[in-house]
Amino acid sequence: MFGVLGEMKGRIVLIKIPDRNTAKKFLMEAEKLNPGRWVPHSLFVAQAAEAIAKEHPELDSEVAYVVGCLHDIGRREGITYMRHSFDGYRFLQQRGYDDAARICITHTFWLKGLEEYSGKWDCSADEISFLESYIASVEYNEYDRLIQLCDCLALPSGFCLLEKRLVEAAIRYGTTEHTAVKWKLLFENKDKVEQKIGGSIYDLLPGLRENTFS
Ligand SMILES: [Fe+2]
Repeated sequence: MFGVLGEMKGRIVLIKIPDRNTAKKFLMEAEKLNPGRWVPHSLFVAQAAEAIAKEHPELDSEVAYVVGCLHDIGRREGITYMRHSFDGYRFLQQRGYDDAARICITHTFWLKGLEEYSGKWDCSADEISFLESYIASVEYNEYDRLIQLCDCLALPSGFCLLEKRLVEAAIRYGTTEHTAVKWKLLFENKDKVEQKIGGSIYDLLPGLRENTFS
């Protein structure tokens, strides 16, 4: 049970999430434990998610901000790769925030398979087994897809064209045989969101042009 109540007035409702102030508090505490560029990145992901959700008929902007803010919270444990998803899930799930915890995992595995992951596999065998069964059990919803998208719209310095962030991540973490399929899925995700909001996501993100080409 992930706390998704189904739809209310056409909106997907998530109930097991902290409020905005608690989410920001978690992020600031995490920054003290592991300061780094991931913190401003997380805040830009939250802002992008909020801005897009405000225009989206099925999303709540407050929920979008919170799950965006916390998607990388597992980085509080240090410089990690695959296990930042596991650690984030565990941190939030232990506090009863199952719906925010879910995003810590789903934002990483767009194709619902661990083999798509191009960074280090720094989880134990049991943790890998848990991640595999978790993503197999979850049906991705609009919030999962929103944060996958927004994760690729935010550098630590601000918003950017998706292509810039994808190339930066490919250089940093490498690619797998699944990378092209993932990129195709992301652009399909962008198209679906833009159909729902009736315009370009880029028009909602201030400074995107300057940050992309600076
Ligand atoms: Fe991220």
